[in-house]
Amino acid sequence: MRKNSLNDMKQIDNQILIIFGASGDLTARKLVPAVYDLYKEGFLPDNFIILGASRSKLSDEDFRKRVLLESKYLDGGEEMIAPFAEKLFYEPIAGYDADFGDLKNRITALNETHQTDHNLVFYLSTPPEVYGKISRSLYETGLSSEEHGWSRLIVEKPFGYSLDTAQALNVELHKYFQEQQIYRIDHYLGKETVQNLLVTRFSNSIFEPLWNRNYIKHVEITNAESLGVGGRGGYYDQSGALRDMFQNHLLQVVSLVAMEPPREATAEETRNETVQALKSLRLMTHPAELRQHTIRAQYVGTEIDGKKVNGYREEEGVAKDSLTETYAAIKFYIDNWRWRDVPFYVRTAKRMPTKVTEVVVHFKSTPHKLFTGSNLANKLIIRIQPDEGILVKFGVKVPGQGFKVERANLDFYYSQMTNTKVMQAYERLLLDAMQGDATLYARGDEVEAAWKFVDPILDYWKNGKDVRMYGYAAGVWGPENSNSLMEDGDDWRNPGPSLADDPGFCVIC
Ligand code: BG6
Repeated sequence: MRKNSLNDMKQIDNQILIIFGASGDLTARKLVPAVYDLYKEGFLPDNFIILGASRSKLSDEDFRKRVLLESKYLDGGEEMIAPFAEKLFYEPIAGYDADFGDLKNRITALNETHQTDHNLVFYLSTPPEVYGKISRSLYETGLSSEEHGWSRLIVEKPFGYSLDTAQALNVELHKYFQEQQIYRIDHYLGKETVQNLLVTRFSNSIFEPLWNRNYIKHVEITNAESLGVGGRGGYYDQSGALRDMFQNHLLQVVSLVAMEPPREATAEETRNETVQALKSLRLMTHPAELRQHTIRAQYVGTEIDGKKVNGYREEEGVAKDSLTETYAAIKFYIDNWRWRDVPFYVRTAKRMPTKVTEVVVHFKSTPHKLFTGSNLANKLIIRIQPDEGILVKFGVKVPGQGFKVERANLDFYYSQMTNTKVMQAYERLLLDAMQGDATLYARGDEVEAAWKFVDPILDYWKNGKDVRMYGYAAGVWGPENSNSLMEDGDDWRNPGPSLADDPGFCVIC
């Protein structure tokens, strides 16, 4: 195990991580493996333990077996896992609004034995309906108090179902915890490539001067998944692509693309700017505008490689007459000095040809065209996943007579940084919360600003008179009319699994 020096990490206090919903899938699949990786890499403080809590009646041993010793989500030999298992404990609770007296006694006892200095991180990996109840019970038992050590609350998505419900949840949580104690997790912000948006923009003088309405024609963001809703039909049918991906993950990406430079790279300064960007989204409320600027669609069954693929309405847990979108594409504007009249096109969908998330910044063409026959507009492609990297497309002269111009690529791939271990999103975000750094967590007003933009679209899709639900065969790039959102005959860039996949390119590197 490598012990990290204080030079490569911030101070991390002794503490207990208490996971509510500890018998659930997320704990075994993401949370415990993330903490285990932190342990292997020497990031955990000397005195650190995990206490699982949920309504299932498990012993410490049962819990350790379930999430560690018999887990299929961990890699590492027994010599690493066995000592880590000693750090895991479990306490059953009667219910999420029950008296947390026993839980508190257990925490107090563990704090004594393991010298964790009264510092507590509570992770709510439970259905959102009980976030308020758990917070109240924690408050009533004094566990949200910071009298003897600190107390933090990590809340999973979804944060609300609409603007009203998100506001109500904020009000409720604020009764029991201060805003600076609350960490609203969005795993996209834990992705290295999403954070690199900030570095690309604010540490490169070649990009920043061009990052505005004078040089950028439009911005395109694609989030595509090749899988369908799988076993999550019941949840997804109540949610849909706009709530599941757009309101949170994709609007966070938009805010990083659009924000002004923060005064300094602290949580408050950075989030002040991302909130400003989200507050500047031009709200669409008129049905004609909503009709023109939004497309929703559902995948329908087809055959891929000789195998039948279910349509959305045939998926388990989905209503046979469901009107929930699995594809959402939105065109919108950001009303501020930097972005006035620059269209943003953002789409997210299940059952696309490939899994990919990328941001494409389309620059304007040169003001006077000297060379004919080629569309020379530059593009900057920031690949969030997979084949993570950055690609700049620019024009070069084809050797020979005349001035024939060809598109060339300048590229960078994360995979080239051989000695660098890229932390998984949950690992990075948990470490940040354990260190008290909320930069990569959404603030209350940020979540509300995102819902404020999304609410009228949801309302139009639910109640609009002329609203349509299009179909697309599973495995294609959305409905037939998907390019109709774009101006000037532009099309979506339909990316391949590799960053440089693009018909007609030549690579120089
Ligand atoms: C989750 C959504 O938040 O993000 C899922 O609920 C989606 O529907 C997932 O599949 C995508 O995450 P990633 O990291 O695989 O792009």
